[in-house]
Amino acid sequence: MKKFTWTCPSNIALIKYWGKKPHQIPCNASLSMTLSKASTELSLELHSKDSKSSEIECDYYFEGKKNEKFEHRVREFLQTQQVHFPFLKDFALHFQSKNSFPHSTGIASSASAFGAIALALCDAKNQLSGVEKNSNFMQEASNIARQGSGSACRSLFPSYALWGKVEDVTNSSDEYAIPITDVHLNFQNMCDAILIVDSAPKKVSSSLGHSLMNNHPYAAQRFVQANQRVSEMISVLRNGDYERYIQLTESEALTLHAMMLTSHDYYLLMRPQTLEIIEKIFKFRQETKIPVCFTLDAGPNIHLLYANSYQEKVEEFLNSELKNHIQEIKWDKIGLGPQNKK
Ligand code: DP6
Repeated sequence: MKKFTWTCPSNIALIKYWGKKPHQIPCNASLSMTLSKASTELSLELHSKDSKSSEIECDYYFEGKKNEKFEHRVREFLQTQQVHFPFLKDFALHFQSKNSFPHSTGIASSASAFGAIALALCDAKNQLSGVEKNSNFMQEASNIARQGSGSACRSLFPSYALWGKVEDVTNSSDEYAIPITDVHLNFQNMCDAILIVDSAPKKVSSSLGHSLMNNHPYAAQRFVQANQRVSEMISVLRNGDYERYIQLTESEALTLHAMMLTSHDYYLLMRPQTLEIIEKIFKFRQETKIPVCFTLDAGPNIHLLYANSYQEKVEEFLNSELKNHIQEIKWDKIGLGPQNKK
């Protein structure tokens, strides 16, 4: 039996991926911050197969229990990967994973899971064929992770990652993410306090949400805007401009939700507490001039972003103003990317 264990973090998009073409190609570029604590630890065991069938044999255990729904998604994904990983049909694959955060709360859990699955598969492929890990390893894993869940491809890099072709970044690609380097000190130590206002599973899956961008009346303009914003955000991350970072980040969160509100089958993921908290963040920022801002994923929970030098002030704010609006706070921060557990 061979075993491959990886921990892969989640990520929070500053510029959002929303809308995709066939084969998980994004309609626009996106840019994210890799998290540190929210992560999936996954091991892939390769067992010898009882039968010589050419069917993929796999099972998926999440936190010690068989998870039929995710197993089905992973099996479908593996079926698309047989050319890249010819060993898939030679073994019985046993996946076991655990998350450091609640499943499906808008804290991109499929991103960290597919990031870890892709890493384990690429690692297995290399080891079975006696190939050393090289500098392309993360790029290859990012490409594979994307095919499982789009946003997963950004989780494989430390700090900040860009996914999607943008004109002014020569090595950018729709097929994999790349790291953003040379980030200004202002953005090197960012924190993300994830304010859980509702931990119930997502009401509308991201897949359905993406599909509503087909035939969306504002889609074309939105995709142009997102690509421009990605380019601008890269400059902002390098020049340290908090003010523009805040404008872009918050407008992205609201634009993402505006797309949901204005799609043909419109839906609403924000909760009353989400709006109350946003208003309190605006007021706090105005009064204190502390550069904190929010972003949202496809859910009601708030990601509060700020440099770690403001940790104490932010804690005071949360304790005094927001305690009654929040079920739980997950304290996270910018992270270093995946880890291989031997
Ligand atoms: C709102 O990556 O979950 O979090 O590719 O269908 O798996 P699939 O979608 P997914 O979409 C994430 C959307 C988002 C924005 C983002 O992370 O960029």
